[in-house]
Amino acid sequence: MVKISLRFAFTGRSRQLVAVWAAKGRRQSAASVMMMMMMLRERAWYHGRLTIESGGASGRQPALPSPPLYGLRRWLCSAAPAPRVCVVGSGPAGFYTAQHILKHHGGALVDIYEKLPVPFGLVRFGVAPDHPEVKNVTNTFTQTARSGRCGFYGNVTVGRDVTVPELQQAYHAVVLSYGAEDNRVLGIPGENLPGVYSARAFVGWYNGLPENQDLKPDLSCETALILGHGNVALDIARILLSPLQLLRKTDITDSSLAALACSKVKRVWLVGRRGPLQVAFTIKELREMINLPGARAVLDPADFTGLESAVKDASRPRKRLTELMIKTALEKPVEMQAGAAGAAAPREWGLKFQRSPQEVLPSADGSRARGVRMALTRLEGSGDSAKAIPTGDVEELECGLVLSSIGYRSLPLDPAVPFDSQRGVIPNSSGRVEGVPGLYCSGWVKRGPTGVIITTMNDSFDTAQSLLEDLQGGVLDISPSREGFGLVESILHSRGVRPVSFSDWEKIDAAEVARGKAAGKPREKIVDPAEMLRIIGH
Ligand SMILES: Cc1cc2nc3c(=O)[nH]c(=O)nc-3n(C[C@H](O)[C@H](O)[C@H](O)COP(=O)(O)OP(=O)(O)OC[C@H]3O[C@@H](n4cnc5c(N)ncnc54)[C@H](O)[C@@H]3O)c2cc1C
Ligand SMILES: NC(=O)c1ccc[n+]([C@@H]2O[C@H](COP(=O)([O-])OP(=O)(O)OC[C@H]3O[C@@H](n4cnc5c(N)ncnc54)[C@H](OP(=O)(O)O)[C@@H]3O)[C@@H](O)[C@H]2O)c1
Repeated sequence: MVKISLRFAFTGRSRQLVAVWAAKGRRQSAASVMMMMMMLRERAWYHGRLTIESGGASGRQPALPSPPLYGLRRWLCSAAPAPRVCVVGSGPAGFYTAQHILKHHGGALVDIYEKLPVPFGLVRFGVAPDHPEVKNVTNTFTQTARSGRCGFYGNVTVGRDVTVPELQQAYHAVVLSYGAEDNRVLGIPGENLPGVYSARAFVGWYNGLPENQDLKPDLSCETALILGHGNVALDIARILLSPLQLLRKTDITDSSLAALACSKVKRVWLVGRRGPLQVAFTIKELREMINLPGARAVLDPADFTGLESAVKDASRPRKRLTELMIKTALEKPVEMQAGAAGAAAPREWGLKFQRSPQEVLPSADGSRARGVRMALTRLEGSGDSAKAIPTGDVEELECGLVLSSIGYRSLPLDPAVPFDSQRGVIPNSSGRVEGVPGLYCSGWVKRGPTGVIITTMNDSFDTAQSLLEDLQGGVLDISPSREGFGLVESILHSRGVRPVSFSDWEKIDAAEVARGKAAGKPREKIVDPAEMLRIIGH
């Protein structure tokens, strides 16, 4: 028999049920105390979910997953300190990694650091404004952030305000999920001429990313050229050609909406260096473009000759995508509906294949781009691995606006973290950073800048699983000396950095939603970090 007492309490802010115990009080058998403690820990966890999902109404029991016992029994029995995990970056990778760890280890504490005062990474600053349904994942991320075992510290740039070795001193494990903050460059003459923009900057501009608010793209020309055949290229083409009344109802920023209202762009060519069987975009996004009100698809049937048989053995998604392109190319152009896009100025878009950008051509006075010289290519090999080889022939495509949409790129974060500059990723094995025990990575910085949110979710779960296995296997040193945020807070304080909490973000969120309401938008994003900080009284 042991002498032990159990006391229950609801913590004030998170309204989580917690069990507080001390070495005095009722008599219980050791086995029943242990059982009770385990039940309480599980209930506390359940209650945390219940509070989040039902807004505090206890009694409503949603269908709950099995309790997070991974490592819990071991943690309870060993009385080991709670493992403290730090996640760098609050995009899908950061949040899904945190979610998996919290769900499967009932004792772990996870802190997420984010360089911006606002969370969610590319879900806020990348996903197109006219795809609001995709942004619903932020509800799940919010549940994770509101868990009593998760901390959020925005406005902290890791690598500048706090280093990775400092985080390693404060936490038992550090997960790098900081995405891809840069873009690939073409490396061709004229790439830096006025009138040429990276897709990353253009997307950041219309989505309210603070660093891109000065872009102010010149939309005074009629023809735009988008280099690349990925989904980002399609997003941009759609934003450039969408009727304003569709965009007005989205969370696109007011200033970009005003610029698009004055845009003269009515023709967009998406140019790829390989063929129709190698496009990187997907069918849903292509269909959306084909059905865009007031815009006509111009595809050359000659580009698709013989492809129906070539695609027979391809994967089903590739086959369906190719069939849709062929069908669209063979369809007779439908007369534009009067009023749909303005009868006098119908908008159109098209795909051009097997053209590799060779030089951005300057206008006569050299002041801006007037077109792109393309090297025509032939394909060597077949399928996804086919290579574009220049034939020696060239073609000049005239345009006033060039958008280079050839992919994003991750950057090294800290000299203490290995980085493969060739591939733009942190070298890792199932998320374990090579040669650095206790350091992990997930998301785009782990596997490169491709893949949708679901892909990122799966690879983040995989990284979290590696971390949990290392905890379970005793690979990680979980000595009580690691203070977590306590240590980081003093470092940040000494450097004049004031973090933004998740409830601070919720105030910014509420202000954005209130501003949007008047205009019938889901939100009006605040684009100036200083203004965000003013709203929360920093
Ligand atoms: C334009 C665009 C549109 C997309 N649209 C869709 C879509 O409609 N549907 C879909 O499923 N997928 C879409 N994706 C893909 C999806 O956005 C990615 O799969 C996903 O965001 C990758 O997650 P991540 O967490 O690795 O990176 P990110 O989302 O980029 O998150 C990284 C986070 O780390 C932060 N960070 C960076 N450096 C630091 C630092 N030094 N210190 C602290 N924090 C830091 C960043 O601010 C950011 O919040 C789109 C991608 C792009 C580029
Ligand atoms: N709605 C959505 O679900 C959505 C929206 C946006 C983005 N995303 C996802 O986000 C990820 C990133 O998208 P992304 O469009 O940036 O990248 P992406 O899918 O990798 O496409 C990049 C494109 O650029 C081309 N390219 C690369 N280097 C080039 C060069 N030097 N010269 C000419 N062309 C070059 C590629 O052609 P090659 O194939 O020949 O290399 C490819 O067509 C993708 O996984 C995408 O699906 C999803």
